[in-house]
Amino acid sequence: MLMPHRTNMQSQLLKKSNSSKPVQVIAVTSGKGGVGKTNVSANLATAMVANGKNVLLLDADMGLANIDVMLGLRPTYNLSHVISGEQSLTDVIVEAQCGLKIIPAASGIKQMTDLSPVQHAGLIHAFSELEDDIDVLLVDTAAGISDSVISFCQAAQEVLVVVCDEPASLIDAFALIKVLNRDNGVQRFHILANKTNSSQEGRDIYSKLLNVADRYLDITADYLGAIPYDDYLKKSVKQQRPVVDAYPRSRSAIAFKNLAQKADKWPRLDSPGGHLEFFVERLIRSNHSESEFHK
Ligand SMILES: Nc1ncnc2c1ncn2[C@@H]1O[C@H](COP(=O)(O)OP(=O)(O)O)[C@@H](O)[C@H]1O
Ligand SMILES: [Mg+2]
Repeated sequence: MLMPHRTNMQSQLLKKSNSSKPVQVIAVTSGKGGVGKTNVSANLATAMVANGKNVLLLDADMGLANIDVMLGLRPTYNLSHVISGEQSLTDVIVEAQCGLKIIPAASGIKQMTDLSPVQHAGLIHAFSELEDDIDVLLVDTAAGISDSVISFCQAAQEVLVVVCDEPASLIDAFALIKVLNRDNGVQRFHILANKTNSSQEGRDIYSKLLNVADRYLDITADYLGAIPYDDYLKKSVKQQRPVVDAYPRSRSAIAFKNLAQKADKWPRLDSPGGHLEFFVERLIRSNHSESEFHK
């Protein structure tokens, strides 16, 4: 990967960042919509908060502002107000009852490529100014294989692919993994089966995906387990609460808590690249190389 020369501002950020601990950035994606990304993001994030982690959830679905609806929040500001310089990141972050912090989707901005260099610098600065010691940044991506989804996955350290037992979900998940791997150098994936009727079904979904992926791609993809199909989850969606909060003993809630424990064991990047502002830098850089590539 190309590393551009650091500007003075970036070097200053690097110095400042070394004092705080690295942030684990996890992108939640799926290819197809309606597979359960937003529910997985909100519940995994809430379960991590319950484990004592300081979690920031970025709603990167610019089309549908999902997270705030799912959690019954009515944010006044979003990331676009940070980009325009009207608000600081701290003012934009809303906190759910459980303590989970959310950056609402920047409606009106299609992708980071639309931003000017000054706006880019402002965004990196905004993230570097965040005084909170964030442990985990979870990114709920949009459906499809847009430049924006690719950029978020490429900039994250971990890519969690949600799949369910439908041909369209499997095909779209494979197509996304292929583009991320072949064209964008992403090699490590985590596969999560959702809406399963048995644990065997979850393992079968994983095997189907891996059989094809192994034949055509050079990736490692581990199986994270399955979130069962659960009517309590549907109920919780109607109540605008995460199922781990509303029905903590339900089957899906227990599966989400197990998932949070698994993710907690992933090794952390102990390098300057693990800090939040560098995630934003990678995000912006990946967008630039893409737009140059497409010229
Ligand atoms: N484990 C599950 N059990 C039952 N229904 C589910 C489950 N996961 C998701 N759903 C249903 O699927 C719908 C879409 O989920 P959502 O998280 O919004 O998907 P995405 O973000 O991928 O578009 C939810 O509103 C819910 O009704
Ligand atoms: Mg969604």
